[in-house]
Amino acid sequence: MKQIINVKLKTRKVDLSTCKTGMLAVGLFSDVEALDKLNAELNSKLGGAIARVIKLGDFKGKEATTVVIYGNERIGAERIMLVGLGEKKKATLDTVRKAAACVANQAVTIKTESVGLALHRAFGARFNLAAIGQVCAEGAYFGSYRYDEFVTQNEDGRLNSLRVELIDSDSARIRKLNKGLSSGTIIGKAQSYARTLANRPGNVMNPAALGAEAKKLARRTKNLSCTVCDEKQLAAKGMGGVLAGGSGSQSKPRFIVLKYSPAGKRAGTAPLVGLVGKAVTFDSGGISIKPSAKMDHMKLDKSGGIAVLGTMKAAAEMKLPVNVYGIIPSAENMPGGASYRPGDIVTTFSGKTVEVLNTDAEGRMILCDGLAYAAKQKCNPIIDIATLTGACMVALGKYMAGLMSNDEKLIKQLQQAAEQSGERLWHMPSGDEYAEEMKSKIADLKNTGSKWGGACTAAAFLRQFVGEAKWAHVDMAGIDIFEKGTKISAAGSTGFGVRLLTTYLMSLSR
Ligand code: BES
Ligand code: MN
Ligand code: ZN
Repeated sequence: MKQIINVKLKTRKVDLSTCKTGMLAVGLFSDVEALDKLNAELNSKLGGAIARVIKLGDFKGKEATTVVIYGNERIGAERIMLVGLGEKKKATLDTVRKAAACVANQAVTIKTESVGLALHRAFGARFNLAAIGQVCAEGAYFGSYRYDEFVTQNEDGRLNSLRVELIDSDSARIRKLNKGLSSGTIIGKAQSYARTLANRPGNVMNPAALGAEAKKLARRTKNLSCTVCDEKQLAAKGMGGVLAGGSGSQSKPRFIVLKYSPAGKRAGTAPLVGLVGKAVTFDSGGISIKPSAKMDHMKLDKSGGIAVLGTMKAAAEMKLPVNVYGIIPSAENMPGGASYRPGDIVTTFSGKTVEVLNTDAEGRMILCDGLAYAAKQKCNPIIDIATLTGACMVALGKYMAGLMSNDEKLIKQLQQAAEQSGERLWHMPSGDEYAEEMKSKIADLKNTGSKWGGACTAAAFLRQFVGEAKWAHVDMAGIDIFEKGTKISAAGSTGFGVRLLTTYLMSLSR
C-alpha cells in the first residue's frame, strides 16, 4: 500500500529573495495597504508584479486565498505565493496555521517538492516565534495530507515527499522558530496518522484491526503500553455495553487500553488523565437501521477513539510529564441474528442497567463501559470524545464540537486548548433536567431521551458513569469529516481532537 506524503520540516537561515525553493510563501493582510519590507523587496525584484496583482484586484488578502507569481532571474524561488491573512487585528495563530496548510495543500496539488515559508514575517513581534514555528509545522502536515492508500491507478501520480523550510535571514529568529518545530512536527504527524486510520473503510479497519494498530503503536513508542481485550475477555469482565454495541457484527468488539507514563520519578507526582474515545468502526444503526443516504460516512464513527490513539502517540513522543490512560472501546454496529434489539436490558461494566430503546444510540453503550473503566483506574479528570449525536451537528454545524462537563475549571482549560489548537469547542448543558429524561421504568437508565436536546441528553447519560471524577465530553459528530476538499485540506477525515487533546495535556505540564 502507498505511504502518505513524507513531509520533511526544517528551518534555514537564508536570504529570502535569493532562497532557492519551488515556492516561497509570504503573507499579506486584507486591510494593510503598504507592502511590508520583505514584500516590498520581492515586489521590486519582480518588477512590481505584486503591486500589479493587488492593483488589478486579483488578490485582496482575504483569509485562505492565494495567488502565484512566477519568479525571475533576480529571485531564487521558482514561484512566489501570496497568502491572504485576512484582517490584521483579527489574525490569530490559527490564521498562520491555516495559511501554512493552504500553501502545503497547493504545493502537493501542483507537485512542487519544496516550499519556503516566510509567513511569520507579516506578524512582526505579535506572536512568539516558537509558537509560529509549531503552527507552521502543524499546518504543513495538515494541508499536504492526502488519503490514497488504495489508489493503484492514477495517471498524474503524486508527490512522495515535500520539503518544507521555515526561512529567515536572521539567525536569532531562526533559532526561535526552530524551538516550536519539534512539537509541531510530532503533533502534525500524529494528526496525519489519525486521519489515515480514520479514513480506512469498515471492511479494512474493524475492531480487531484497530486493536492491532494500537499494539503496533505501543511496540514502537517508548513508555507506551497497550492491552487489547477480545470478546471473551469482555464477557469475563462484564462489559455488557461494549458487547451489546458490537453484538450484530461478525467482527467482534475489542476494548483497547493504552497507558503512557513519563520516565523516571515524574510519574509518581503527575496527574492521571483518562481519555476515552468512541471507536465504532462502522455504524449502520443496527436493528434500528439508518437510512442509506450518506451511510458511508459512518466509517468515520471511530474518529473519537482514533483521536485518543493519535493523542497518546503525540504525548509519548513529546515525553509529557503526565500519566495518561487512552481507553478505546471499539465495536461495529450491524444488524444480524445476534444483534441487540430495542427493548433489551443490558448490564454494563459499572453494574448499572440500561434499557435499549434504539440500537443506533450505540456510542453511549460502549462509552459508558469505557468511562466506568477509567473511573475504576482512578483517572481524574476523565475526558471522552465521540461522534455521538446528529443532534450536536444540528445544534452547532460543522465548525465546532460540543463540550459538556461537570467542572468549571476543566471547561476553561479545554476551551483554552481549543483556542490554541484551532479545534474549537462550544459549551453546552448536560445537567439534571437532561439526566431525568434518561431514567427508565424497568432499568436504571434508557439509552435515548425525548425528541429534543439529543446532544445534551446523551451527555447526561454518560456523566453518570464517571463517579466523583471531573469529567468532560466532546461531541465531534459532523466535524470529523470534510465532505469536499477545502483550500486547506483534502476531503475525508479531519483528524479532529488530536491537536485539541494534545494541547490540553501540554497545558497540564506548564
Ligand atoms: N454515530 C451516530 C452519530 C452521528 C450522526 C455522527 C451523524 C456523525 C454524523 C450515533 O451513533 C447515532 O446514531 N446517534 C443517534 C442517536 C439517537 C438514536 C438517539 C442520532 O444522533 O440520531
Ligand atoms: Mn448510531
Ligand atoms: Zn455511532
